[in-house]
Amino acid sequence: MALGISISDRDLKTITDFVHKKRGLNLSHFRPVFISKRISVRMKMLDMTNSLQYVQHLNSDLDEVGTLYDSLSINVTKFYRDKKVWQLFGNKIIPDLLKDSKISGKLRIWSCGCATGEEPYSLAIMFSEALDNPQNKIKIQATDINSYSLQYARKGIYTKDNVKNLDSLLLTKYFKKIDSTRYQVIDELKDLISFNLAGVTSFPTNHIDTIFCRNLLIYYATEAQNLIIKKFNTVLKPNSFLVLGMEETLWGNKFQNSFFLLHPRYRIYQKKLLLENNSDSISNQNAVISNYTTSIESLSNSNEG
Ligand SMILES: C[S@@+](CC[C@H](N)C(=O)[O-])C[C@H]1O[C@@H](n2cnc3c(N)ncnc32)[C@H](O)[C@@H]1O
Repeated sequence: MALGISISDRDLKTITDFVHKKRGLNLSHFRPVFISKRISVRMKMLDMTNSLQYVQHLNSDLDEVGTLYDSLSINVTKFYRDKKVWQLFGNKIIPDLLKDSKISGKLRIWSCGCATGEEPYSLAIMFSEALDNPQNKIKIQATDINSYSLQYARKGIYTKDNVKNLDSLLLTKYFKKIDSTRYQVIDELKDLISFNLAGVTSFPTNHIDTIFCRNLLIYYATEAQNLIIKKFNTVLKPNSFLVLGMEETLWGNKFQNSFFLLHPRYRIYQKKLLLENNSDSISNQNAVISNYTTSIESLSNSNEG
């Protein structure tokens, strides 16, 4: 019961099925309490106390599904969201990845929960700036469970307001202007990314060098979070990176000990090597991590505003 409003299980299922059908978003794995709370807020605004009333309203008012969907705010995203995270990633992690990729070939980056594409395109821009021939050196896999968002992402068309976070040089280099209010990502950038409709745990992938999974875990209950991190732990290469949202953490997760927290504030993790039986190697690795953390800290301190 949220806001004194109770929603029957049957109505909750009808509502979530409706959102799935109309907006392509499967809400069944989200915390039920989170979904119920958002529905209750809508009901309160509409002065309703009975969830059946809301179901009827949803069926009769075409705009309501959009309003409910927007109120979930789960597709909110932007280019270079949380700029300092991206600065750290660009200045510290990318050089590390490129050093290692000389040995192992094409880098594989996964933007998990990519929403309307701003995150994978930001990654594609960053790597394109760092590499001479990005097509031969990186592959970005971008996934989401929302087919509607993915359609938008594949088109790569953004409004002036959407691209306001981008440096003007990057905007000119990686976008073509469609008209006075819209820009489209150039094909060379799109070619670096494959967009797939897939949930985190069902997406078939492996040998990943970096996962961006930002602002997704927050919607899930502990059990589901454990499954998600288990998947990441399985598909990430040793020493590779996991970037979470600013309000997300592995603290308390079942797989917490499989990762080093490289940067607490910006939630950048590194997967550990599997060296549990070799104490010399572990202490070597800890020394490397400790150097890394120090340099990353000094960078972030110098960037604090
Ligand atoms: C708030 S957006 C975050 C977008 C982007 N990562 C960012 O931080 O700006 C969360 C996205 O995760 C997607 N999502 C939620 N659960 C998912 C799952 N199990 N598998 C894949 N995507 C999921 C949602 O559809 C939504 O587009």
